[in-house]
Amino acid sequence: MRIIQDQTEALGTFAADLIAERVADRPDAVIGLATGSSPLPIYAELAKRVAAGALDLSAARFFALDEYVGLAGDHPMSYRAFLDEHVIAACGLDPAQLRVLDGKATDLHAECIDYERAIRDAGGVDLQILGIGHNGHIAFNEPTTSFASRTRVVALTQQTVDANARFFDDDVEDVPLLALSQGIGTILEARRLVLIATGLGKAPAIHSSIEGELTSSVPGSALQLHPKVTFLVDSAAGSMLERGEFYRRERDLIPGYGH
Ligand code: F6R
Repeated sequence: MRIIQDQTEALGTFAADLIAERVADRPDAVIGLATGSSPLPIYAELAKRVAAGALDLSAARFFALDEYVGLAGDHPMSYRAFLDEHVIAACGLDPAQLRVLDGKATDLHAECIDYERAIRDAGGVDLQILGIGHNGHIAFNEPTTSFASRTRVVALTQQTVDANARFFDDDVEDVPLLALSQGIGTILEARRLVLIATGLGKAPAIHSSIEGELTSSVPGSALQLHPKVTFLVDSAAGSMLERGEFYRRERDLIPGYGH
């Protein structure tokens, strides 16, 4: 499913609706969280609904996609800190509801195995929020990652390090070069995937993920294999799509499209 919206805020509302539906079905639903700027409109919308008493996330369980190696959870640039701020604190939740890979674990490999087990023990991820990198990465699965990959230690490409320097006061030297990341195989096991992308910079990655060949050179193209994936893109991120008109037609004609 490809949903193109002209207003970026509408994407946050759409994804928040999907999360609210999951939690209405099952209050202890397992929600997978991405970090970065793309999902912020979703998290802001969730916080707004919780504050208004329209959404109860108090029994939901959350798993992060990835974490930098070497940053403790209380480091301001850690993904744990990001999600604590934008989801846990913003929605008034208990930090124990969120599990994040421990980038300071003494045995990183054991931590990854443990994480996979924790996801399995929770019954799997009901809905996974995703962003996408300019080079098509999902989580920290850089181009040429196996579609069957599992949670593991990964190296970041220089392009990703440069792109993420904006979160480290533009000091590229401070960006860790290693991360722990759910694998593409892990992500594909979530029952529902929702990828959000905004802005012109993401247009090539969105085009190749949706309309390009299935290739490990574009990790986002792996999502073509998933039976229930929704791409939420604004018109800038969707501007290179060759079949954009058709996607808008699907969105407008099919009842309940994307739900
Ligand atoms: C973050 C993650 C990454 C980001 C991607 C896009 O948990 O998994 O794949 O989704 O780098 O980042 P933004 O949204 O900041 O452009």
